[in-house]
Amino acid sequence: MTICYTLSQFYDAISLVPKGYEVGFVPTMGALHQGHISLVNRAAADCKIVVVSIFVNPTQFNNPADLEKYPRTLENDCEMLEKAGATIVFIPSIEEIYPQKDNRIFDLGGLDSNGEGPHRPGHFNGVAQVVTRLFDIVEPKFAYFGEKDFQQLAIIRYFSKKLNYPLSIVSCPTVRESDGLAMSSRNLLLTPEHRKVAPAIYKTLKKAAKIATAQNLSQICPAPQELTKWVISEINSEPLLKTEYAEIVDSISLCPVKSWDEADEIQLCTAVFAGAVRLIDNIKLK
Ligand code: PAJ
Repeated sequence: MTICYTLSQFYDAISLVPKGYEVGFVPTMGALHQGHISLVNRAAADCKIVVVSIFVNPTQFNNPADLEKYPRTLENDCEMLEKAGATIVFIPSIEEIYPQKDNRIFDLGGLDSNGEGPHRPGHFNGVAQVVTRLFDIVEPKFAYFGEKDFQQLAIIRYFSKKLNYPLSIVSCPTVRESDGLAMSSRNLLLTPEHRKVAPAIYKTLKKAAKIATAQNLSQICPAPQELTKWVISEINSEPLLKTEYAEIVDSISLCPVKSWDEADEIQLCTAVFAGAVRLIDNIKLK
């Protein structure tokens, strides 16, 4: 495994790759866990060359304190990546990625209008800035993203297609702790008390999915708006959790649905504060 810190080191390493070897790419912000590693494993199964980037992208943080406290565990990350079969790890500095201020504004097709969008102004534009920059550098054939960040995945699919990137976006299922909490680098920041109650988020999503499935069969379920209200009150009934939003959306347009037959595929997405730590999760309802 080669570790590169600069663009020129990266180009040297990638130039050694024999022609015809497919490059799979896993962009990350580090503080790696088994969720990230599942993406690397999938890339290693699909491709001879697996590039992983570790870059805490400042342009996608709308809150400077969040950027400041973002966990950094580089040494451990590299050990995990070596074991998982990464070929090249790219750990650039901010200057390498943004030699000048990036002023690009991306067309995100309105997919940032709901969910995370209104709560994190500029976040998805920042994601688009860094992901396109990394795609231009790495030029992968396949790029791997987690369903844990459902809206991010939809938005990356959208602009990659729109900008004609010659690559396939591969989505990978959410990896969870044994108690159901979606793995996240931010889980490291939870107090023991908040860590204890955080699994209530996924428990509630699962209950909602059960209710929605019952609806598909027997029409006895509340409308999406009612179910959304129930999800919020159920999560908030745990005093240490505070729901920022819960939305039941068309999985393609990401617009909230008013009835169950309004879309072929429907997803429930939520963001919840566990103390100062903001956790997101989602589940398929239809
Ligand atoms: P980061 O949060 O480090 O996540 C990197 C990738 O790992 C993303 O595709 C994310 O969806 C995936 N991932 C995170 N937790 C997961 C889990 N529990 N199960 C499965 N996949 C999981 O997402 C970002 O970084 C950044 O926004 C990035 C795309 C790197 C751009 O800066």
